[in-house]
Amino acid sequence: MKSLKVTASGGIKGEIHIPGDKSISHRAAIIGSIADGETIVDNFLMSADCLATVNCFREMGIEIEMTNDKCQTLPAGRQVSNECKIIIRGKGLKGLKKPEKMLDVGNSGTTIRLISGILAGQDFETTITGDASIQKRPMRRIVEPLFRMGARIEGRSSSEVRRTKEEETSNEGRDEIYPPLKIKGGKLRPTEYKMPMASAQVKSCVLLAGLYADGKTCVIEPAPSRDHTERMLSHFGVPITVIGNKISVCGPASFEGAEIDIPGDISSAAYFIVAGLLVPGSDLLLRSIGVNPTRTGILEVVHRMGGNAEVLDEVIISEEPRGDIRVTSNEKRVTKMKGIEMSGELIPKIIDEIPIIAVLATQAEGTTVIKDAKELRVKESDRIKTISSELRKMGAKIEEKEDGMVINGPTKLHGAKVQSYGDHRVAMSIAIAGLIAEGETIIEDIDCVETSFPGFFKILKKISA
Ligand code: S3P
Repeated sequence: MKSLKVTASGGIKGEIHIPGDKSISHRAAIIGSIADGETIVDNFLMSADCLATVNCFREMGIEIEMTNDKCQTLPAGRQVSNECKIIIRGKGLKGLKKPEKMLDVGNSGTTIRLISGILAGQDFETTITGDASIQKRPMRRIVEPLFRMGARIEGRSSSEVRRTKEEETSNEGRDEIYPPLKIKGGKLRPTEYKMPMASAQVKSCVLLAGLYADGKTCVIEPAPSRDHTERMLSHFGVPITVIGNKISVCGPASFEGAEIDIPGDISSAAYFIVAGLLVPGSDLLLRSIGVNPTRTGILEVVHRMGGNAEVLDEVIISEEPRGDIRVTSNEKRVTKMKGIEMSGELIPKIIDEIPIIAVLATQAEGTTVIKDAKELRVKESDRIKTISSELRKMGAKIEEKEDGMVINGPTKLHGAKVQSYGDHRVAMSIAIAGLIAEGETIIEDIDCVETSFPGFFKILKKISA
């Protein structure tokens, strides 16, 4: 297990290249594989999570070519290149073959939940699983709607999974279902599904299954979650209707391959947006970042706290808005920011950014309250617990709540020895905290960063030098 030492940085200036969006890359690989013919994807994120999606479809007979020289010479899962052009030779809705072995999604929740929707529509049985963290992540949320549509899915029950006391109490139902999932697909019925939580993974799983069902499948969300599946299906020419929080698709759908250009990932950009705000004398330009309104909660939070981050030159490419993000801070002292409350419909728009927002809040004056964010407890780690405990080790004043955190600031952070808990977003958030801490911060187990942001440490090294 690798560890990393971070020390305080001077003003960060210039341009930073942020790799392609993870959520959009997954969807490009998935929808491209079930389209008819070639799909060409530019700026595909070559991270471990997205490569897991690629590998699952390769196991099911889809040819996916990586066209960059760099990508071709490295074994799958070990790419160091940030970006890549990939060509997917899709075989249509019914062109997948039964994989010879269990599908392995590694650490990727998006892969297992989205692909399950597709496996539900196949006339073969598949087992899908992932690493130790995936095997503790709740799957009842997708098993239930897929069961209603006619798929038969078996997983492990709570009693078979060793979880910590906190993990156990964080579950809503006692009879949760965990991977490996054995999915017996077949002919699906359309459904109208009212989701109990705002989750883009659940919504996408049901919509993808809906492509295989005979008739109209609808999903109703309690609050808007990221809408990349809807936008991408529409980009491939699949008619999709969105009325308020109700999204509908008609199956069986057949569609042809498309060309897609993926913007930079705003969730990855968020680390450097916060770094640019917190390190005095910074002036950063992050080029071509996705600014889909279901993802830009981080910018709203920054503005409400009083920080300076603006979107320039917005355009729409492949149905997704993108723009350059410029972040500036005061020349000599930390920009004055204030604590705010975050709750309700904002939460799905910042769900992956909450760990780095917690870092930002340690430097804001007054109290920051994050609530309605219980979903954080079932991410790659229990993020309420992990980010709170590690930032506390650095001197932050954070109180854990059942559904969020209360952070009091500003506090001077100091270096400490901290853990990532194998969670990429915790590792990267703490690394940014290390840039403004006094002394050395040592982060243990940093390999997990490869799941979403290959090249993160290279950038960090460059800017903190
Ligand atoms: C994602 C949806 C979110 C997010 C995850 C990516 C997606 O999860 O946290 O990192 O690509 O659909 P939920 O759907 O569980 O909220």
